Amino acid sequence: MEIWVDSADIGEVKRVHELGIVDGATTNPSLFAKQKSKDFKGVVKQIADIVNGPVSAEVVATDFEGMVRQAEIVSKIHKNVVVKIPCIPDGLKAVKYCSDNGIKTNYTLTFSANQILLAAKAGATYTNVFIGRLDDAGHSGMEVVREAMQILNNYKFETKLIAASTRHPLHIKEAALLGCHVATVPPALIEKLIKHPLTDAGLKQFLADWEKCGCKIE
Ligand code: G3P
Repeated sequence: MEIWVDSADIGEVKRVHELGIVDGATTNPSLFAKQKSKDFKGVVKQIADIVNGPVSAEVVATDFEGMVRQAEIVSKIHKNVVVKIPCIPDGLKAVKYCSDNGIKTNYTLTFSANQILLAAKAGATYTNVFIGRLDDAGHSGMEVVREAMQILNNYKFETKLIAASTRHPLHIKEAALLGCHVATVPPALIEKLIKHPLTDAGLKQFLADWEKCGCKIE
């Protein structure tokens, strides 16, 4: 499973990429709103240069012509840019246009298995299940992931599924168990995946015992 960092904060992206297990990144307008920089293209390019993998950057037009115009602009920022297009009717048309014209897309704000089916039929490169937001609304986000993966596998669609809106380690584990192609993960959660209390206790004991043994490595 690919792990992408879900952030538009260049410092955060750089920090977690240095762990060596980050394969790409996703951004969205709300993540940009948290940044001081107003240089959308510059931030996207810097993130793409850091992660050296797919970087999703979102259009903000909501009409077909505007989405396509912005997709053409965004896709030219960097060779690894994947254009995020929201799951609305004009967005579906725009994804189909982009698919037919060699622009990689991430059909986003997707919450149902039927939306995933349409994303795949339109030729989206990636699409998502926003797990945390579904859970927050009283639904089972992971159940939608299971349904989506079954649909993609049933028809051997090439569209890849992103576990998005991830909130805690269980989301990542269960997405991996279900065969999700990607999980996009907030930086703090990526770092949380590494930790376990038994690891910390075990290391503390190892080091205490090593002190007692008087052995040397160097
Ligand atoms: O960026 C896509 C998605 O992961 C954002 O989800 O719920 O954390 O805003 P959320």
